[in-house]
Amino acid sequence: MNTSNPLSHPQVEQRVNELLARMTLEEKVGQMNQELPLAPPQLDAVRAGRIGSFITEVSALAGAGVDPSPAVRAEICNDLQRVAVTESRLGIPLLFGRDVIHGYRTIFPIPLGMAATWNPERVEQAASVAAMEAAAAGIKWTFAPMLDIARDPRWGRIAEGPGEDPFLGSALARAMVRGFQGDNLSRPDKLAACAKHYAGYGAAEGGRDYNFVDISMRTLRDVYLPPFRAAVDAGAATLMSGFHDYSGVPVAANRTLLTDVLREEWGFQGFVVSDWNAVHELVVHGIAADDGDAAVKATTAGVDMDMIAGAYVNQLAQQVRSGRLSIDVVDQAVRRILRVKLAAGLFDHPYTDPQRAARVILTPDHRALARQLAHESCVLLKNENNLLPLRPEGPFKRIAVFGPFAQARGELFGTWTLDGRAEDVTSIADALRETAPTPFEILCLSDKPDESLYHTLMGVDLAVLVVGEHPRRSGEAASVSNLELPAGQRQMIESIHDAGVPIVLIVLAGRPLAIKREVDLAHAVLYAWHPGVEGGYAVADLLFGRAVPSGRLPVTMPRATGQVPIYYNHRNTGRPAANRGDSSRYIDLPIGPLFPFGFGLSYTTFRYSDMRIVQNGRTVHISAQVTNTGAIAAVETAQLYVRDVVASLTRPVKELKGFCKLFLQPGETQTAHFTLSEEDLTFTGLDDRPVFEPGVFHVWVGAHSASGLQGTFEL
Ligand code: NOJ
Repeated sequence: MNTSNPLSHPQVEQRVNELLARMTLEEKVGQMNQELPLAPPQLDAVRAGRIGSFITEVSALAGAGVDPSPAVRAEICNDLQRVAVTESRLGIPLLFGRDVIHGYRTIFPIPLGMAATWNPERVEQAASVAAMEAAAAGIKWTFAPMLDIARDPRWGRIAEGPGEDPFLGSALARAMVRGFQGDNLSRPDKLAACAKHYAGYGAAEGGRDYNFVDISMRTLRDVYLPPFRAAVDAGAATLMSGFHDYSGVPVAANRTLLTDVLREEWGFQGFVVSDWNAVHELVVHGIAADDGDAAVKATTAGVDMDMIAGAYVNQLAQQVRSGRLSIDVVDQAVRRILRVKLAAGLFDHPYTDPQRAARVILTPDHRALARQLAHESCVLLKNENNLLPLRPEGPFKRIAVFGPFAQARGELFGTWTLDGRAEDVTSIADALRETAPTPFEILCLSDKPDESLYHTLMGVDLAVLVVGEHPRRSGEAASVSNLELPAGQRQMIESIHDAGVPIVLIVLAGRPLAIKREVDLAHAVLYAWHPGVEGGYAVADLLFGRAVPSGRLPVTMPRATGQVPIYYNHRNTGRPAANRGDSSRYIDLPIGPLFPFGFGLSYTTFRYSDMRIVQNGRTVHISAQVTNTGAIAAVETAQLYVRDVVASLTRPVKELKGFCKLFLQPGETQTAHFTLSEEDLTFTGLDDRPVFEPGVFHVWVGAHSASGLQGTFEL
């Protein structure tokens, strides 16, 4: 058990027990019930203690589709809270939850973009700002961080998560939990975190959202679980179970995952909420006969709160009375929920000061942080002849800006943004025009190319094309079968190229797209994900050199859709992939990705040298010198990869085990230091238990997963 965890405080336990002793069965079940706020509000149900939590949205897809949810305000939450606190028998406060995924009103880059910063400290600051803003609107619980590792970008929800790597994902998990919760969850500017969607949801077969998952327990443990473990160890107050069926057992009824692993192995003290209507969906999956059966299976497995299905509130009391469910199971769930409410300080300060919102929401400081994150999230994939940054003395003065997202504003937010407002955003085209230094001339052209466009292009030196995906093409229920740019965009790029105008491509996307042809045609490519409220200015800063790109891919970029799942930490096979012969390859496509995991260019260059490996007992110290060999000060992300050469199981060809950021002046050299211990080299063995196997390890320090200085050690 984590002793610094606010959920395991003795005083909290005592109050939980006192309350539990006074509760009726109906009141207990009420705590396990989460509802949507209706109009008129369910005041009688709140008074009767039949609702423990509200999810302040009106649809499962709120924020992922056209957002129908009304804004939430402190006054609205306070009014409901007052009824719970002063008019219900025991005065147990309500817990208000909302999807605050990558910012509240100050929208940061999508989580996949934040992952591309490889900067947990910055991500923690973003989560802290999101918490401060949302808490001022009456929210005390966010359904974030989303920690689903994804190796298949057809899956639209890859946008919401940390990418393909468990080590990076774990670092970001800790950062987000710390940012949302701080070291004291009861502070009025903090939110309870909800690590989701436990677990393995990102491995949906075929990349189709909600699809079943059939991966080994070993892969689940080594690849998909680590970020959740990190979130639990960082004190995450709650977890959300996934919609999916893992290996034949839907997670909402999966006792192995929810109880054996989460509670018994990891010592998780908080509570688990189902995903939207997932308790009822156990009937649809075909493992429960009806809602009563589903409610029994879900609670017994370890789902403590039912998100909007109504199955618990309508069925559980009867199931207990008829002897089909033990009251101990109910008590245990209620205990976990009350623990979180107490740790969140709801009993001591249940209301939100309505004046606070105006002071803390979308402040200049928050915008500055959003801009910084957007700078750091953009990945420069190509920069022929150092075309970027655009220099006043360079050859490109008249610059045309267009493409389907050049004028986009709200679209810069990306998926899952309930509270962002388009009017807060300056488009990329406007930001370029507004901030262009002399002697640049920025021509913002129509989004829809026509004959006059090509005529205009005759007189320009450079085209900045803003292409990519609309936010609704990624996120929940937005899987695609084709990873290429949406129809028409390639043709537009080809025609500009044919007109002889050099192209800077800005790609907005919720996933790594297969853009081989477009990358070939462009002179420079900046992959900007969906960069958030300050995305317009951030892109302009990067193009004009006021900021230097430092983003690194948190996912492998495929050449073609048919390559997925494609990820760097695969196993070797007996006939490793090569471009010829009887090897594990496709005969119609070169092997290897378009860009490897960890890749990203800068406006300068870095050299790695002098790798050292020093063993000190059971610890290995690895270092390398990193030199900025160019003329611009910039940040490099030095990455450490390891391979376990011979083991009782086949092991990945490389695994990320460390990274660090170095800010280097031109000509400056710094040392990247890493340490490895047995724990870092432990994996899930043949018996599904953690094992460290002594032996020889290869190690690389370098700029990305397909490069680096190589060494060897034995441990
Ligand atoms: C369904 C989504 O899967 C989940 O991520 C979200 O938090 C809930 N809906 C609540 O909106």
